[in-house]
Amino acid sequence: MSQVSSRQAKKLSDYKAPEFTITDVELSFELNPQATKLTAVYQLKSASGKAGTLILDGQELKLLSVSLDGQLLNADCYQVTAEQLILPGMPAKAQLELNIELNPQANTALEGLYLSNGAYCTQCEAEGFRRISYYLDRPDVLARFTTHIIADDTAYPALLSNGNLVSSTLLPDGRRHVTWVDPFPKPSYLFALVAGDFDCLKGSYTTGSGREVALEFYVDKGNKNRAQFALESLQRAMLWDEQRFGLEYDLDIYMVVAVDFFNMGAMENKGLNVFNSKYVLADQQSATDTDFFNIESIIGHEYFHNWTGNRVTCRDWFQLSLKEGLTVFRDQQFSADMGSATLNRIDAVKTIRTAQFAEDAGPMAHPIRPQQVLEMNNFYTVTVYDKGAEVIRMLHTLLGQDGFRKGMDLYFKRHDGQAVTCDDFVNAMQDANGRDLTLFSRWYQQSGTPELKVHSQFDAKKREFKLLMQQHTPATADQADKEPLLLPVRVELLAEGASLPYLLEMTETQQEFSFAVSQKPVPVLLADFSAPVKLQYQYSMDELLQIARDAKDGVARWDAIQQLWQIQVKAAIEANSSGAEYQLPAALFEFYRQLLVKPLDDLAFTAELLTVPAYDMVAEQFDEIPVQTLVVALQSFQQQLATQLAEQWQLCYQSLQAEAYQYQQQQVAKRALRSVCLHYLAFVAGKDELLRQQYNSSDNMTDQLAVLRACRSASHPLFAELMSAFEQRWNKDVLVLDKWFSLSASYPQPPVFNTLEQLTAHPQFSWQNPNRVRAVFGAFYQQNPAMFHSEDGKGYQQLADVVLKMDAINPQVASRLVTPLLSWKRYQSARQQQLKAVLQAMLTRDLSNDLYEKVSKSLS
Ligand code: ARG
Ligand code: ZN
Repeated sequence: MSQVSSRQAKKLSDYKAPEFTITDVELSFELNPQATKLTAVYQLKSASGKAGTLILDGQELKLLSVSLDGQLLNADCYQVTAEQLILPGMPAKAQLELNIELNPQANTALEGLYLSNGAYCTQCEAEGFRRISYYLDRPDVLARFTTHIIADDTAYPALLSNGNLVSSTLLPDGRRHVTWVDPFPKPSYLFALVAGDFDCLKGSYTTGSGREVALEFYVDKGNKNRAQFALESLQRAMLWDEQRFGLEYDLDIYMVVAVDFFNMGAMENKGLNVFNSKYVLADQQSATDTDFFNIESIIGHEYFHNWTGNRVTCRDWFQLSLKEGLTVFRDQQFSADMGSATLNRIDAVKTIRTAQFAEDAGPMAHPIRPQQVLEMNNFYTVTVYDKGAEVIRMLHTLLGQDGFRKGMDLYFKRHDGQAVTCDDFVNAMQDANGRDLTLFSRWYQQSGTPELKVHSQFDAKKREFKLLMQQHTPATADQADKEPLLLPVRVELLAEGASLPYLLEMTETQQEFSFAVSQKPVPVLLADFSAPVKLQYQYSMDELLQIARDAKDGVARWDAIQQLWQIQVKAAIEANSSGAEYQLPAALFEFYRQLLVKPLDDLAFTAELLTVPAYDMVAEQFDEIPVQTLVVALQSFQQQLATQLAEQWQLCYQSLQAEAYQYQQQQVAKRALRSVCLHYLAFVAGKDELLRQQYNSSDNMTDQLAVLRACRSASHPLFAELMSAFEQRWNKDVLVLDKWFSLSASYPQPPVFNTLEQLTAHPQFSWQNPNRVRAVFGAFYQQNPAMFHSEDGKGYQQLADVVLKMDAINPQVASRLVTPLLSWKRYQSARQQQLKAVLQAMLTRDLSNDLYEKVSKSLS
């Protein structure tokens, strides 16, 4: 790191309102790749009305001059440190002008102002604005921004910023000067600037109250057609938010820019979203059904932020879940309405059970409102986002759709234009519904995964069925003592072919619930995954199969199958420590045979039921993860299903003929089931022709990729041949090539270590581009457990080297990549030693705050 940063963690409990605020900002950028000139003019006001010391945040800035109320200041009137500009004796009201020089070309961290393939763009959330100018870079300082951009007119025809374009003038020297004014006061993290030469796809939207909004999608030249689906997704999202929440868009223009160099998915800057191009660009040849799905959901997510995030923002970054948990919940509801509610819910449950439960169990455990943060970028987590959305969902469950809407309405009525806390949100829900939510608020303070243990009793004489429930949250790395939480528990009682639904509210450590019944029912517990907990109940195989067939709730049916597989995994481990020779029970084959012979109406749901859980789903059940045994057992399960039901897979596959591609629900479902059949068929001998045939004849990326995935999973000999054809076809198209990078890196055999080296030498690979790095190394550790955890420790060393290399280029990317190395406590002793050694070696280096926070916590 070029600069040694202070390692001082910030605490939520230390929050103080700012002493000065900035009401108006005027920024003038003269763009240049290595020497951009910025003049920043701020109208300052002290909160107390008294003069005082003004402390502005700033990092890696070249400060040229400072003027106060039009007077140039001598350098001894202020102090510049690595992270601050300190100005003593600031009057209660003042105008401050700063002149700064920036080097966007040297900015590989992709925070602040940087270049993506020659185009200028910015990323300011969370604390990136301080890399553009010295500022009160905190979300509770809201100012009106005016932005001037001056740049060469031919090289950068598009000059964009937040709000409305108020003037555009060609200067005599061939440069253009544009001015944007954003009428909505906003925190600095929502500022954005883009300058480049793009293709622009235009559309429009008329709001419910009849206002016309111009929609503009800026994409790399030649990609205009690939933005059509994103534009239509935006139109659907705008309509949905009006219908569901009564929320309309508030500016005359909404712009989305797609860039290839981006740290995250996308960013909701006011009126000017910046997106990772993979979440904008799609057509049937180059994108899969999943890509289309993600685009619609992320376009929705960023759009929904305009109200939940922009109009009402966060008081401080500890409150991040205020906007992210709520906005993820909103985008999930949107996706559910656009497609299958059950399938969407299953996806969300998978995220919680894998990544979020793992985070709770690891060194970075934190509540959805963290209490202490060293590097804010480390807290854009599955806990803040996805568990945060689960917490909002529980409110929705407890209050009902109408009660929830009343709470939202009150929240906006009270807080529009403000920077608020999670408590303000819960209070609005509470007051709008006349309901005490004090106990519920614990979800914001307490980290960890609650365990819900349930026993049942049936009294035939009294005709009474009882559920005895106990909750317990184990200690986490950040918090030893835990209290009981408010858990909404959805239950169905299955008896005599009928299902009775209940919503139980658990508030104590132990509670008993009784039901009047005439027959002993099978309880379906935690239907719809109504609380983000681990459920324990002793189900028999038969009961699980009955739930899978008869429960009303689709998530519960799917979950029953998940539990069946967990039982198989444990049985396999007991039967044989290598997990290989255990034979699956006949009842399971029979269940699958019936599903294949007569698929359910929902083919996508059928496909889910027919899929053996992924490694990380299964691994999360173990305190100490038996890596190789799990890998071997899961592989053997797939092989057994493939062989035993070979004929049925083939027949089902043939019954699902491909049709001309459309991204449309029934077709997506059909392709999903076809892909599952194909997956198993790749494990059966003699299917080369079928695989090759689908690869060569399909008119879309979904079906082609299904072949490559199936061959990869089965280590099929065709894999190499088809992969090389794929590379030849797509090597000019980086977004598609990323799929090839990922497939190559997830090949579950030892040659993959050589492959990784070859991949990083590929002409299209770049250490500077996070999409490429994640495509290779993200896939390696997420989708290749056998090789990542290879006995000799090679996988760990490989990733550690990459993390260190990346830390010097882009700390945010490095810090995300390091995650799988942190959980050394969850492996057997040899792996523990290897992982620990790798982490200790890392800690001796000069690390970014991002990486330091994680690595040091994991070793403490
Ligand atoms: N607010 C953005 C979103 O969720 C994410 C920004 C993440 N930024 C970061 N530095 N981690 O839509
Ligand atoms: Zn977000």
